[in-house]
Amino acid sequence: MNQYRRIVILTGAGVSAESGLGTFRDKNGLWTKYDLREVATPEGFAANPHKVHEFYNARRQNLKNAKPNAAHLALSRLEKKHRSEVLLVTQNVDNLHEQAGSGNLIHMHGELAKIRCQQCDHVSEWTNDLSVGTPCLACAETGTMRPHIVWFGETPFDMNAIYEALSLCNLFVSIGTSGSVYPASGFVDEALRADAHTVELNLEPSEGQSLFAERHYGPATKIVPDYVARLLEI
Ligand code: APR
Repeated sequence: MNQYRRIVILTGAGVSAESGLGTFRDKNGLWTKYDLREVATPEGFAANPHKVHEFYNARRQNLKNAKPNAAHLALSRLEKKHRSEVLLVTQNVDNLHEQAGSGNLIHMHGELAKIRCQQCDHVSEWTNDLSVGTPCLACAETGTMRPHIVWFGETPFDMNAIYEALSLCNLFVSIGTSGSVYPASGFVDEALRADAHTVELNLEPSEGQSLFAERHYGPATKIVPDYVARLLEI
């Protein structure tokens, strides 16, 4: 009988760092190179859609060369082998968790490999470059397509399902996130309200590190497989 019946895992950019995808707030992070107000807000997109498309086109191209790493693969193993419910909530917009085999997955900040029509709301898979001239595959309108990404000031996806899972979990594991952005940074508080055991796995202590009952620090490709192996022994 394993000790944990319902597990919620939150991942951030740190879980994909060793796959070559950038983080945001580390010393060479994306927000040290770009002004997030220009490329990750609805206002920035309205002011200069070409600049926003350029930013996400470059990230979409990067994604083509990225492969899941040992941390993604360990989390997929946990979902398959742990005899209980494992929900993976990611802040990341890459598709490396899916490529590693994770299925019970919520992309609360959207997905880089998808685009959305602002006219008819249709969401399409899209791995090419996007421009203001790209027509919607459903309503054929042009000038209406945007990355299917949640920008600052917008509401993350599937929050009801996430809060429901947090209220029922007895293990919450936060991996590779600085704990800087709400609502994800508040998930540990919800888990504590549910009397869950809380674990932080990160390269270094996050902003919310003192809220976690258990903390392990190091590269995700080392500490995540180690932690999952221990969980699977229980
Ligand atoms: N292994 C484990 N953790 C790592 C590694 C690694 N190899 N490399 C970096 N980290 C950690 C950093 O120490 C940092 O705490 O990953 C975290 C990355 O933090 P951020 O760059 O702030 O990324 P994240 O927490 O995912 O940002 C949250 O902010 O800009 C928005 O929408 C964006 O989803 C993003 C959200």
